[in-house]
Amino acid sequence: MSSDLSPIDKAKFVAAKKAVEFVEDGMRVGLGTGSTAAWMVRCLGELVREEGLKIRGVPTSTRTAALAQECGIEVVSLDAAKWLDLTIDGADEFDADLNLIKGGGGALLQEKIVATASDQMIVISDVSKEVETLGGFPLPVEVIPFGWQTTQALIEETLVSMDVLGRSASLRMNGDSPYVTDEGNHILDLHLKRIGDSRQMAMLLNQMPGVVENGLFIDICDRVVIGYGDGKVEVRDINAGTIEENIVDFVENENLFSDLTD
Ligand code: 5RP
Repeated sequence: MSSDLSPIDKAKFVAAKKAVEFVEDGMRVGLGTGSTAAWMVRCLGELVREEGLKIRGVPTSTRTAALAQECGIEVVSLDAAKWLDLTIDGADEFDADLNLIKGGGGALLQEKIVATASDQMIVISDVSKEVETLGGFPLPVEVIPFGWQTTQALIEETLVSMDVLGRSASLRMNGDSPYVTDEGNHILDLHLKRIGDSRQMAMLLNQMPGVVENGLFIDICDRVVIGYGDGKVEVRDINAGTIEENIVDFVENENLFSDLTD
């Protein structure tokens, strides 16, 4: 029930609700992963079921695929869709240039492939994810399981000459076992505290053997929709250089608020 939602969940919900206003009939839409993206999938599902919105959704994880199907959204693969009109996804951090850290939910690889194959990417977020400099949130790096400790050592060695405040990497765990991504890889979380040059960091990481992809999304996001607990939303468009504020009606809706699986 909506009345049980924390202010942070209300903020995520109103950001999602506002972002789906950018979805038009016939669009091919990339569906992000995480708790904020799950609200967006629920909101889109409601538009599909109740207003006859016709879209094809390309999920960025097996859990988003399951949720989208549950919500009545037609799910297709990226290869079937070929190119997307819009991707809406959450983020772990964003800066003033709308560069991002993503991958807290472990889906960064599919998320980056899908967002890059989209005309537009909208990030939905509560205000806590906005930072002056990226890096407070540990940077996820997807690595292949073969020789992951060697890859970790190589990354840590490379970090010595980088403009960062922390230089350790840890293997993400799922209970007692290493976390395994949808592609069967592992994730190293880099505890950098502050990334001086995120563009250089993204390029260097991806040059290392064993690294599949990193969670820095540079020049990929076009808009951010920031939600607040009181229903206010702020839409920042990096290309147009505009900032708009609105209030989203917070209407209680049993279908939308029950059994949220993500
Ligand atoms: C998943 C992601 C998520 O978008 C990110 O972790 C934000 O998640 P949440 O909306 O739950 O805070 O990158 O890989």
